[in-house]
Amino acid sequence: LVLVVDFGAQYAQLIARRVREARVYSEIVPHTMPVEEMLARGPKAIILSGGPSSVYADDAPGIDDAIFDAGTPVFGMCYGFQLMAQGLGGTVAATGSREYGRTPVSVGEAGTLLADIPAQHSVWMSHGDSVTEAPDGFAVLASTEGTPVAAFESTARRMAGVQWHPEVLHSEHGQRVLEHFLLDIAGCRPTWTMVNIVEEQIERIRAQIGDRGKAICGLSGGVDSAVAAAIVQRAIGDRLTCVYVDHGLMRKGETEQVERDFVAATGANLVVVDAEKRFLDALSGITDPEEKRKTIGREFIRVFEQAEADVLGDAVTGEDADKVAFLVQGTLYPDVVESGGGAGTSNIKSHHNVGGLPDDLEFELVEPLRTLFKDEVRMVGEQLGLPADIVWRQPFPGPGLGIRIIGEVTRERLDILREADAIAREELTRAGLDRDIWQMPVVLLADVRSVGVQGDGRTYGHPVVLRPVTSEDAMTADWARLPYEVMERISTRITNEVAEVNRVAIDITSKPPGTIEWE
Ligand code: XMP
Repeated sequence: LVLVVDFGAQYAQLIARRVREARVYSEIVPHTMPVEEMLARGPKAIILSGGPSSVYADDAPGIDDAIFDAGTPVFGMCYGFQLMAQGLGGTVAATGSREYGRTPVSVGEAGTLLADIPAQHSVWMSHGDSVTEAPDGFAVLASTEGTPVAAFESTARRMAGVQWHPEVLHSEHGQRVLEHFLLDIAGCRPTWTMVNIVEEQIERIRAQIGDRGKAICGLSGGVDSAVAAAIVQRAIGDRLTCVYVDHGLMRKGETEQVERDFVAATGANLVVVDAEKRFLDALSGITDPEEKRKTIGREFIRVFEQAEADVLGDAVTGEDADKVAFLVQGTLYPDVVESGGGAGTSNIKSHHNVGGLPDDLEFELVEPLRTLFKDEVRMVGEQLGLPADIVWRQPFPGPGLGIRIIGEVTRERLDILREADAIAREELTRAGLDRDIWQMPVVLLADVRSVGVQGDGRTYGHPVVLRPVTSEDAMTADWARLPYEVMERISTRITNEVAEVNRVAIDITSKPPGTIEWE
């Protein structure tokens, strides 16, 4: 275990991911956690992240110097590097030379940390203060024009630091610097692999559920719920039932993929609830985006709870029922970190008001992905043998195509959008772009019509808008520069093959200001 101490910048999650890419398990802890508590967890190394402050600011988040006396390897980056310098007896000063963005760095004596890294390369900086003197016993390894001490190490004390942000992609060789620290200086072993994750999680879930009752998992068609379900299936077999609500707002082929491919890959019990009519009836006449979302959300909960009651009904009235039911959720590590939760398993128990279930039935959450990042979830999915279509699926909103039809949602309009969307996804896959494009919603402007000409005739059809974006986490996004040939093929095919669509437009708005979805 490597602990990443978060000093309040957005970099801690990225650092934790990079550590795991080096195949060393990592977790994030807040800088407010007492040092004894950090050490009590027995970390093999501690990384001090960057942060927004100056070490001189009155309210600057600090760290107890005891962290440097424990014999535990420590690595500092940016602000963490300055805290280290200060805590170990070096000097940090406001030199007046600020460096932001791409900065050339010169490696002097490379030491262990910068071994085999080019003497001149560029790194990502973001700092005002600078370290002007390294602590006693530390060798200075690199400098920049504005920073005499840009990296230092003491292999005897197993500590090192860099002024830059090795975790961002703009820093050349950043991953190697991090690996030199983890593997060569701190002596961590690269044993965190997907096989281990799967086995560990299966063991954990067996320990949590034991032989107490049944579990239920809602499948959305997306990767998170599918992987969560597949892990729990491995752990408890037939006592898991998956419920998939088909609200009729799915993409083409999606329901079939879940019914056929997911079941084939996992052998899980699956209940499919066909609720298309119910959802379309409820959505009839609604054009306001928020009202659509609320309607879909409300109907979804009703349908899912009814299915839950049907599935669990006999489990909790049977002979050896102990009135515990487990609800599997695909919560990911970023959600856990962002909601302020620390490590450990969640044991949240909640009473569920579901018609048809006994009042005192307790639901316990099972969250097999609680420690994982999205890219790890995909790797685990592959490890578990889930189909690539599911593992590499683009994120898809809960309200489905309902919020990609601008105007009222009808079955006819859904069919049009499903066809256009299927073509766009097919061409994206054919061009090998699935892993570069975060997602590409296709939006039907159902209340807009435009004139076109096709063959000898005038057409009066609807436009669709392609919304390809790149992103790391959907919080921000940029519009993706799709190759012209790919756009051309998508446009030609959609206008030829989908009779009602006679125009294809492309959305070139970043987020912010635009959201990814149109509604
Ligand atoms: P926006 O449109 O807010 O979307 O930029 C950010 C990401 O979230 C997805 N999204 C949703 N996911 N339920 C979901 O599960 C929703 O109601 C919902 N709305 C948007 C969207 O596809 C994008 O990945």
